[in-house]
Parts: sequence; structure tokens; C-alpha cells
Amino acid sequence: MRDVAIIGVSQTKFGELWDISFRDLITEAGIKAAADADIEGADLEAMYVGNMTAGLFIQQEHIASLIADHSGLTPIPCTRVEAACASGGLALRSGIMAVASGYHDVVLSAGVEKMTDVVDPTPAIATASDQEWEAQQGVTFPSLYAMMARRHMYEYGTTREQLAMFSVNNHKNGALNPLAQYPFEIGVDQVLNSTMVADPLRLLDCSPVTDGAAAVILCPAEDARKYTDTPVYVKASAQASGTIALHDRRDITTIDSTVHASRTAYDMAGLGPKDIGAVEVHDCFSINGILAIEDLGFVEKGQGGTAVEEGLISIDGEIPVNPSGGLKARGHPLGATGIAQAAEMVWQLRGDAGKRQVEGIEIGMTHNIGGTGGTAAVHIFGR
Ligand code: COA
Repeated sequence: MRDVAIIGVSQTKFGELWDISFRDLITEAGIKAAADADIEGADLEAMYVGNMTAGLFIQQEHIASLIADHSGLTPIPCTRVEAACASGGLALRSGIMAVASGYHDVVLSAGVEKMTDVVDPTPAIATASDQEWEAQQGVTFPSLYAMMARRHMYEYGTTREQLAMFSVNNHKNGALNPLAQYPFEIGVDQVLNSTMVADPLRLLDCSPVTDGAAAVILCPAEDARKYTDTPVYVKASAQASGTIALHDRRDITTIDSTVHASRTAYDMAGLGPKDIGAVEVHDCFSINGILAIEDLGFVEKGQGGTAVEEGLISIDGEIPVNPSGGLKARGHPLGATGIAQAAEMVWQLRGDAGKRQVEGIEIGMTHNIGGTGGTAAVHIFGR
């Protein structure tokens, strides 16, 4: 197996983007990543694109062909990767495995979702849950995570305010990210007084509905300096599966796929939680941010809320979480999120993150979840 490096990254502006189509979004991300890596599109040997559900959001399937065609890159092989909100993380992993195995040298891993063209995105998002046992019974994603939040509050005394503080931290960082959907700060009171979505989760506990795309360019580590003076190295790429339905879990306050994927990643990299300088976690709802810092091993189970309240997750805290603004403030275009997280970590490790730069970072982690944890992808990167 060969070591793999990231030599170029990009993210489009995230938001409600009425004036740009699905195909133009992903093409923009690809062109910007190629320019960042100082390569031509024709230098690519393969493309892997994460997308959850273009069929439901824009009535378009066969998007791999569409993307290769629209970006003028036929006959380069392009493959769509789908694992709900973890589609991007798995597209990244597919690209890494293609380079590591020696099958391809220069590869693009990308993600794209155009969610705002439908009147109500909730039924499309709900297809990531168990259709027979959850979605068809009227359960939505906010309500699934609301059950996890209620149980966490009951088991560990996590407070409503602590959940709010996770969103507040995200928006504080997101305010410094010009590509974020919601680049403004919010306060705890605003979260507590925002519209109720699924008790106890309110509007400002929820990631938004987002259009956007992101891309990274990969190559063998030994070739990386031919393209860039600031390569970022992939130290670990891990994936784990969990039950798709919540009721099949041994404990709904732990996402076992996160635990398994992160332990595999730590083993692969020969590192532990204390070595991680910053982490981008999958906070599709504030409770999932708290579960993530517990399940990734940064704090003990049940201590996530207290850690947030004590400021451990701020940019200058013990474990900076979501310097980009996370899913809450940067936005969550489902299939693009795992790639946008990697792009943020590359900017951080290059020292290119501007006002939201984590000082002295050497190692970074990304954590991308599909559904309520049916899939988890964890990556570790180093300078
Ligand atoms: N955070 C901050 N502001 C938000 C927001 C969010 N998550 N969602 C919407 N807004 C803002 C909008 O910009 C809009 O502001 P405006 O009136 O100034 O234009 C206002 O709130 C109302 O927006 P609207 O689109 O009508 O909200 P909605 O009620 O239709 O949707 C949610 C709100 C929370 C239901 C929706 O964002 C949602 O479903 N989020 C979860 C997405 C999800 O499940 N992803 C997968 C996770 S696994």
C-alpha cells in the first residue's frame, strides 16, 4: 500500500444558491481544486463523487456520467458514492484507496448536493433512515436526534443550555468563514428561543438545508511535492457500519460506528485523541456534536455537555471542534459535507485558515456520519 497525500482542495460557497445548478456547482468545485493542485483536468485518472439523493432533490440520477460530461472530462472514469450524509467521507475514502492500492495516481474525490430546489426536503432526507420502521411511521431526522438528545439528558444530566452552547461555538467559528452558509454569531438565548423543531431540538440546534460542493485532489505521497510545497498527508482512513434503525441500538446515546471507525483510525495512524489538534465533527444536530466528542474519545461518555460548557471545544480550547463552523453554521449539503470537512482540515494544516486558524496544529481529524450512525467515516491528516 502506498501513502497518500492531498495536493489540492476547494469548497464552493454554501447556502441557498438559486443562481447555480447542480452541475455547475460540482464543476466549480473541481476546477478550483485542480487549480489549487496546479493540475489540468486531463491529469485526473479517476473521480469519486459523494451524493446522497440527486434523484429526489433534482430528479437526476446517473450523476457520475453527468459530471464527467459537463466538466469536459470524458472518458475519465467517474463513480458516484452514496452513504446518505457520509457520502462525501466515503468518496474521499474511495479515492484514497484507489491511490493507496496503486490503481490510480491522480484522483479527485468530491461531493455535491442541491437541496433547496424542492419545497420540502424532509421526505428526501428521511430516506437515510429505516424506511419501514422509521420514515413510514412519520419519524423525521430531527425527531430521531431529538430522541437521542432526550435520552442523553436523562442518562447524563446534559442540559438544554449545553446543547445550545455547541451551536454557539459553531456560529462563532462560522462567522470567520466566508464560505459558510450562516457566517454570523448567535447567543445561547437565541437558540433557546428559536422555533421548536422536535422537542428538545430547536431551529438553531439543526444544521440547515444547503446547496454546495467541495473537492480534494489526491496523489501518492512520494509525488506530492512535485505539485505543491504544502502537501497534507492521509494518516488514516477508516469506516464502520452501525444499525440503520435507532431501536436496534444497544444504547441510543452512543454511536457505535463512530467508536469503531475512530478506534480503527487511531490504530492505523498510531495516534490517540490527545494527538489531535482540531476535529471537524458531524454535528447535523447539536446533540450529535456532543455524542461525537464522547464517541471519538476526547471526553468520557456523558461528559460532552460539560466539556462544551467549559469551553474545551473553542478554537483556543483543549480540543478545537469545527473551526469551519461545522454543519450548523458552514451548512450541510449532505453528500458534500465529508469533503468540505477534509478541505477545512487541509486549510488548517497548511496554516491557510485565516481568522479561524487553530494555532500550532500538526494533526487533524474529520468525522462524517450517515443517517443516525448507520455509517461513519473517520479520517486523520497530518502536515
Ligand atoms: N439554522 C439557522 N437558520 C435557519 C436554519 C438553521 N438550521 N434553517 C432555516 N433557517 C432560517 C432561514 O434562513 C430562514 O430565515 P429568513 O426568514 O431570514 O429567510 C428561516 O430560518 C426560516 O427558514 P425555513 O427554510 O422556512 O425553515 P424550515 O422551518 O423550513 O426548516 C429546519 C428548518 C430546521 C426544519 C431545516 O433547516 C431542517 O430540516 N434541518 C435539518 C436538515 C437535516 O435533517 N439534515 C440531515 C441531518 S442527518
